[in-house]
Amino acid sequence: MPKKTFKKTKSNQQAAKDELEEPRNKAAQLHLLKGMKDILPDDQDYWNFIYDKVRELGHDYGYGQIATPILEPTNLFIRTVGKETDIVEKEVYSFIDKGEEDVTLRPENTASVARAYIEHGFVAKSQPVKLFYYGPFFRYNRPQSGRYRQFFQFGYEALGEDHPVIDAQLIALAHKFFQEIGLKVSLQVNSIGCPACRENYLQVLVNYFRSKRKNLCDDCKRRLTKNPLRLLDCKEAGCAEVAQDAPQIVDYLCEECRDHFVRVLEYLDSMEITYNLNPQLVRGLDYYTRTTFEIWPDSGETASQSSLGGGGRYDNLIELIGGRPTPAAGFACGIERIIIQLKEKAIDIPRTKKPEIFIAQLGVTARKECIKLFEQFRKEGIKAGEDFAKDSIKDQLSRASRLGVKLAIILGQKEILDGTVLIRDMENGIQEVVDINKVVQEVQKRLAKLNEIDSPDQPIS
Ligand code: HAM
Repeated sequence: MPKKTFKKTKSNQQAAKDELEEPRNKAAQLHLLKGMKDILPDDQDYWNFIYDKVRELGHDYGYGQIATPILEPTNLFIRTVGKETDIVEKEVYSFIDKGEEDVTLRPENTASVARAYIEHGFVAKSQPVKLFYYGPFFRYNRPQSGRYRQFFQFGYEALGEDHPVIDAQLIALAHKFFQEIGLKVSLQVNSIGCPACRENYLQVLVNYFRSKRKNLCDDCKRRLTKNPLRLLDCKEAGCAEVAQDAPQIVDYLCEECRDHFVRVLEYLDSMEITYNLNPQLVRGLDYYTRTTFEIWPDSGETASQSSLGGGGRYDNLIELIGGRPTPAAGFACGIERIIIQLKEKAIDIPRTKKPEIFIAQLGVTARKECIKLFEQFRKEGIKAGEDFAKDSIKDQLSRASRLGVKLAIILGQKEILDGTVLIRDMENGIQEVVDINKVVQEVQKRLAKLNEIDSPDQPIS
């Protein structure tokens, strides 16, 4: 008789346990993509602080808010940001979608704003059309502090006007933004001329760098033919040293470009805005003409890697994507980098209002009453903390202490029967009985008194 073999099977209990645990194990394998970040509640005050200021300045300077899609046709960025730029060559998240269209997660927003300007016939509006935005952008680069694969920018664009006062006012707006959020920055300004004057300059520039070819990194050797202007802002030590003595573009500007630049600087001077003329400032996107500028942290000599923002004029961009010739200028700033600076410099920012009181309950009926009380306080603008799911008064009061509230409202079975509540002064522990129908007014009165003690009109000497 063949020997009976027993296949080991899982007990029902084990199978049920495995099934329960399976999703947990699967979830454990999933993690945040490299270069991406969750923005958690503790940090949101920083984000809201920045968004509020962006909107405030947008409205003050006459900019309307625009939101463009995160996904755009890949060609939009190839034609504007430039095929030979690091962004398009190495950093874009591009893919073919289900409709066989080549699409890209936007690495920046100027091209999209320009596309929207054409598509919505903004050319027919009174010019300049001024637009501001904020949102997420995507660049597949090597993540490090202040450099992410998904990052957030805000920006301002003024389209349809070539007057130098536009450039100066944009720089002033950037300057105001940082001044008003309390960060010291340094403004770097340059002009890279128009394609006509740049052609002469590029010849001189390439000749200069060719004579120093042996000192250049491999990327720069390629740039000699592909994108010579970028030779000026390579971060490699050897290349940076060569760039120091390179011919400066301002010496090669045509008369109109020079005049435009001089007038931009005159407007900046008249607004008493301090800037640093930086002949190496060429920016990493191909669409710029004439004015370029960057905002650097005040620590000074930091290279553009940690620049807080940048922008300039882009008079040919709209024509490049099928619009009429339309001069324009703008800038964008990196929000994560600004928040890093705000934290490093310990700048005070407005915080979300904390609870002023705490509502604690004991018993089924009291809990029901307390949910209603919470709404009454909310209606009167009094922020209440609570932990309604807890049964223990001790647990609830220790949460109240952790929240740092001044008063706790306590409702137990006795109070329900009497139609009262207890108001507890959290500092000295003294409790008083108050009619439940008068509790809101009573709390208002007491908070007003406590706040007066905290911040008297006249400092006590
Ligand atoms: P951009 O210089 O490429 O210019 O980016 C502007 C700012 O975005 C940078 O100064 C930096 O603060 C931030 N940023 C860029 N890449 C990253 C990253 N990987 N991680 C974190 N922050 C980053 C533009 O995007 C142009 N569209 C600006 C502009 C507007 N020019 C005219 N109008």
